[in-house]
Amino acid sequence: MKVITVANQKGGVGKTTSAAAFAVLLAQQGRRALVVDLDQQANLTTLLRVDPRNATGDVLDPSRGQSVADVVQRSEFGMDVLAASQDMETLDLALALAPAGQVRLRDALAVVAGDYDAVVIDCPPNVGLLTINALVAADVVVAPVRASDINSVTGLARLRTTAERSGPLRADRAAPPILPLLTVYNPKKVADGEIESTIEQGLKVPIVGRIVATTKVERDANKRRPHVAHRPDSTVAEGYREVLTAIMGQPA
Ligand SMILES: Nc1ncnc2c1ncn2[C@@H]1O[C@H](COP(=O)(O)OP(=O)(O)OP(=O)(O)O)[C@@H](O)[C@H]1O
Ligand SMILES: [Mg+2]
Repeated sequence: MKVITVANQKGGVGKTTSAAAFAVLLAQQGRRALVVDLDQQANLTTLLRVDPRNATGDVLDPSRGQSVADVVQRSEFGMDVLAASQDMETLDLALALAPAGQVRLRDALAVVAGDYDAVVIDCPPNVGLLTINALVAADVVVAPVRASDINSVTGLARLRTTAERSGPLRADRAAPPILPLLTVYNPKKVADGEIESTIEQGLKVPIVGRIVATTKVERDANKRRPHVAHRPDSTVAEGYREVLTAIMGQPA
């Protein structure tokens, strides 16, 4: 089981869009996928058309202590979803007060490791304890960077620091690799090229993929349908497919 965490504390950079794309593509490839929605906005939960409910809190809050298998919902797009809802707003505090509150997601996922080929975790736009849990559980961290938004590059640098600091919580595993993913990318815009070189030269991390900007992604999201499910042959779907292959290897 490979755990793919999608994180950047900057808001609106394409985290949920990317997590939905990976989840739908995994299911299309016949892989057993679990989605974990850690964001109380529950955007991924609603995009995958399952009921918003605090299933994530049921598992992570020690006073509730349910198992993943008991509270997942099946999405019509072919993956299991550990749903989020607005009721999650106190979960960060519950984790802060809990013993081993940084590793509860890792431990909950270990129980279902045999049931899934991949887990996709969508993070909220901050570095609270939910994001820390996602970094501790991660095998790989995909960090969407919105091409026109220099602040999302700063977010990337801070994410890397946070991931390195979470290292001691990962037992004998090294800090997870961070893969910057350019989103809402326009190859003709000079500024977008400048962001690319800032990331590659400044932060010394290779970019894992470039997802072009198209209003169709936004229009599909507004209609509550994941873009890659609705348009599997689009350039955006192809871009996400290449990134997923880089992470998971070729589908069987
Ligand atoms: N390739 C793209 N082209 C055009 N628009 C895009 C693309 N990818 C994402 N978007 C749009 O950008 C907006 C932000 O995307 P998304 O919700 O995935 O970001 P996020 O990082 O999850 O935000 P938040 O931090 O609030 O959770 C959405 O309106 C989405 O439809
Ligand atoms: Mg989001």
